[in-house]
Amino acid sequence: MNSRTASSNGSAPVTPFVHEGFAYGCDYNPQQWGPDVWIEDVRLMHEAGVDLVAINIFGWCDIEPHPGEYDFTTLDTIIELLHSNGIRVNLGTGTSSPPPWLTALHPEILPVSDDGTTRFPGGRQAWCPSSAVFREHALALVEQVAKRYGHHPAIALWHVSNELGCHNALCYCDETAAAFRLWLQARYGTIDALNAAWGTSFWSQRYGQWSEILTPRLTRSSRNPGQVLDFHRFSSAELLDYYRRETAVLRRHTNVAVTTNFMVTAHIRNLDYWSWAGDMDIVANDHYLDHRLADPAIELAFAADLTRGLAQGKPWLLMEQATGAVNWQPHNLAKVAGEMTRNSLAHVARGADGICFFQWRASLQGSEKFHSALVPHAGTDTVLWREVVALGATLDRLAEVAGSRVVADAAIIFSWEAWWAGDGESRPSHAVRYLDQVHAAYTALHQLGVTVDIVSPDADLSAYRLVVAPCLYLVSDAQAQNLGSYVAAGGHALITFFSGIVDEDDRVRTGGYPGAFREILGITVEEFSPLLPGHVLTLDSGARASLWSERLRINTAEVMARYLDGPLPGIPAITRNGHGGGTAWYVATALAAGALRDLVRTIAEEARVTAVGPESAGTIEVVRRVKSTSSYLFIINHGHGDVELPACGHELVTDAPVGRIVRVPAGAVRVIREDPAS
Ligand code: GAL
Repeated sequence: MNSRTASSNGSAPVTPFVHEGFAYGCDYNPQQWGPDVWIEDVRLMHEAGVDLVAINIFGWCDIEPHPGEYDFTTLDTIIELLHSNGIRVNLGTGTSSPPPWLTALHPEILPVSDDGTTRFPGGRQAWCPSSAVFREHALALVEQVAKRYGHHPAIALWHVSNELGCHNALCYCDETAAAFRLWLQARYGTIDALNAAWGTSFWSQRYGQWSEILTPRLTRSSRNPGQVLDFHRFSSAELLDYYRRETAVLRRHTNVAVTTNFMVTAHIRNLDYWSWAGDMDIVANDHYLDHRLADPAIELAFAADLTRGLAQGKPWLLMEQATGAVNWQPHNLAKVAGEMTRNSLAHVARGADGICFFQWRASLQGSEKFHSALVPHAGTDTVLWREVVALGATLDRLAEVAGSRVVADAAIIFSWEAWWAGDGESRPSHAVRYLDQVHAAYTALHQLGVTVDIVSPDADLSAYRLVVAPCLYLVSDAQAQNLGSYVAAGGHALITFFSGIVDEDDRVRTGGYPGAFREILGITVEEFSPLLPGHVLTLDSGARASLWSERLRINTAEVMARYLDGPLPGIPAITRNGHGGGTAWYVATALAAGALRDLVRTIAEEARVTAVGPESAGTIEVVRRVKSTSSYLFIINHGHGDVELPACGHELVTDAPVGRIVRVPAGAVRVIREDPAS
């Protein structure tokens, strides 16, 4: 698996996280229970096949009950118990949530919201990422934990903090403002350069001195977009710096792999994980189905593909998911029978080499008492527990798949910077949201059975037959050039509306939109023409569209479809342009899902993209993992009817040979080790 070459103290190399077959695990919070339960827990972990357990995630108040007084009695006992039972430990540094004594002693570490009000203890993550006092106490704790367990044979992985930035990524306090200024000085060098980048000639905002700059707290009007964008960049970098500091402490005492759990998910966007991923000894992600979305299972596939992108294609860990309902959505749906297995194996299909959950035993108290767990309140005589045990057995049967890679010949460009800037306060339409548009493009490819890599705008695109850039509002010159060169060299690109509009300072590229991509697309857009929600347009191709249109004129492109109605009848809506050896398509509106899928099918065929699976409404998910000696075809049937697909080899879930056709019952998953010739 993923390994970095040397520990930061320059001594022994980092030991990569290696696990036999798939890791199967969970967060374990034994402090909520007594010793009798721990014994029972370990017995049940064996029954389920759980072999990697994350502990001490929220352990601070237990291991440092009073300032500077450490008590490892319980943690020692738990680690020994797990170790003597052959269960590996994913050891939390314990710094995720400061104990009440720390916030009482030092209320200045508390985070401040954008309205200038403090957020208080009583929940979790009540700390400011820039707080020197918080860092001092947290790093002192890490030192103690690392010293004590740095060489303990049970420790397979170190888990820094927990979901860094989940609640506290953006802090607007004065200490953060000082850190923000230092970051800005390093980025811009002079105040004039900062003024130029932020466009402060507008609204009399020009700064004379660094000390005048604040965090972008709430204003009576909209805020300076350059300031807000840089605050996002800074805040992501500040937490990464914090991660690095914890890691540096760990590295003084251990060579075991270090990671933290990312939140590649639909509702959190504060960290630019492209800049974080290289620091992880193995990339790990937390993913929860989001029932506020139209198709949560497709979003799961997207998040898994993006996590694989962050891991540069290498295997990664699913560090958390739920066996059933979560507790933090407005309507927390339980999973139907088989859904937890499908979700888990969808992550595996897309490159995960470990499947872990939050959490082992459902809490009886606290905010998460109605969050599902491996051991539910109702105990083990339950459908859920039986599925947990069955999943452990299934993962064992799939062990040989671990370490293999997913191969894709289509890619979607994804950018946190474009997300931050494009979803800014002052924009042409608040109905256009970056992630919705990315999901729409992904859904089209997913429903066509095409496996997709999610890549950064800086990625090498040369291996792909098709690259899609949905709503890529902000791109640097180098990123625009990257996509342009890809097309010129013979690639096929699909770019959708509101792309290439600004440079990395959120400064509009002049001469007509989409400035960065005008040449490769062979078009000029004179004006945006967003639509009111509910307004549906018709194109002369028969396609329906909504949300957005543009006054577009042709330079060198061919017109593939025009608006029949709406504000711009007769104006081109879909274009295709030959650029160098390749082709660049443009869609100037938000096509209805079916129409977008039809268009993507046409382009994918032209680009000779191979679909791994059949077309479906997302109900059949097919992905292939490959290693030097074999390939594995995952077929996940989310639908209500059985399906039959061509395959030849040996099916691992049911341990049965497959001749020509494999039958996948409704709701089931099959994984075929393919015969070399198939
Ligand atoms: C994650 C977190 C866990 C738990 C879980 C509930 O955000 O890391 O500690 O709170 O969500 O879904």
